[in-house]
Amino acid sequence: MNEESLLSNIIYSQNDIHRPFGGVVPELASRAHLQTLIPTIEAAFSDAGLRASEIEGISVTFGPGLIGALLVGVNMAKAMSFALDIPLLGVNHLEGHLFAIRLDHPEAEPPLVSLLVSGGHTLLVLIEQWGRYNVLGQTIDDAAGEAFDKVAKMLDLGYPGGPAIDLIAQNGDPGFHQFPRSWLEADRFDFSFSGLKTSVLNYIGSKHSDFVKSHVADIAASFQSAVADVLVGKTFKAANKFGLKRVALTGGVARNSHLRKRCMETAEESGFEIYLPQPEYCTDNAAMIGKAGLFHLSNGRRSDYSLEAIPNLKLDTVSR
Ligand code: KG4
Ligand code: ZN
Repeated sequence: MNEESLLSNIIYSQNDIHRPFGGVVPELASRAHLQTLIPTIEAAFSDAGLRASEIEGISVTFGPGLIGALLVGVNMAKAMSFALDIPLLGVNHLEGHLFAIRLDHPEAEPPLVSLLVSGGHTLLVLIEQWGRYNVLGQTIDDAAGEAFDKVAKMLDLGYPGGPAIDLIAQNGDPGFHQFPRSWLEADRFDFSFSGLKTSVLNYIGSKHSDFVKSHVADIAASFQSAVADVLVGKTFKAANKFGLKRVALTGGVARNSHLRKRCMETAEESGFEIYLPQPEYCTDNAAMIGKAGLFHLSNGRRSDYSLEAIPNLKLDTVSR
């Protein structure tokens, strides 16, 4: 493989399809993948000014994720690999998120500590080398993004909830109400968000609806601040424990403006290097899967046509 540069990164958002249901409807997601995948690939080729015959390899995520969507993607990638006679590489979706920082920061070299916060996962990872990961902690209940989505629902902010909370919280007071911070035991790097979620629910239930309506921004900002405190606190604590001065933030929740600001401030105060992917590389995207795939393909790794879709794939099964 030659020098790397990103030629195109087309994102087909399904938000409009799932919005009326207030969350992802798996069957609709699979059907939308089936319908939009080829037009999206065509758009990527046209954007990049390439013909299919010019590509040298193809990577695809084979999990974790929704089975229907994964099956459509894996099958498409196999068909392209077969028809074009090019190597195929299955990428772990979580490893893809970790690689997102390399799109903007090719200089980001392990070892470093990365916080991966998405709709389905909250992982604190020690990247020992690219391809070798040590999971230091993870959520014992809800993922951070899930907590955002559920609290947004409680506040009637619509779908997807994370961006809605981020937006409205910009007009709110993060000190309006002190929601609990779940630190679990000292020196433990796991997370828990279900207590915070219940606390927001109880708080809303204990107030008059007019009061809640007039303080939605304040409640959103207070909730967001509680999440960010724990995420930032544990991430930097882990980096300190391992004597590392490099920290990264990835996954959909890494788009959150308050979380990004807190990370940048903490890094600056304590002399850390912080790697934040630009927003479109935080939420699911093809560029990060391509970046991880290219790394493994360049190192001679290949998948064969027995590659399966694995909905609950763990980070310890790296790309294959
Ligand atoms: O990484 P991602 O696109 O998909 C998964 O792999 O899960 O993450 C989606 C999650 C959703 O829960 C969404 O609400 C959250 O990322 N999210 C945000 C923001 N943008 C997306 N959460 C907080 N603030 C945001 N600005
Ligand atoms: Zn993701």
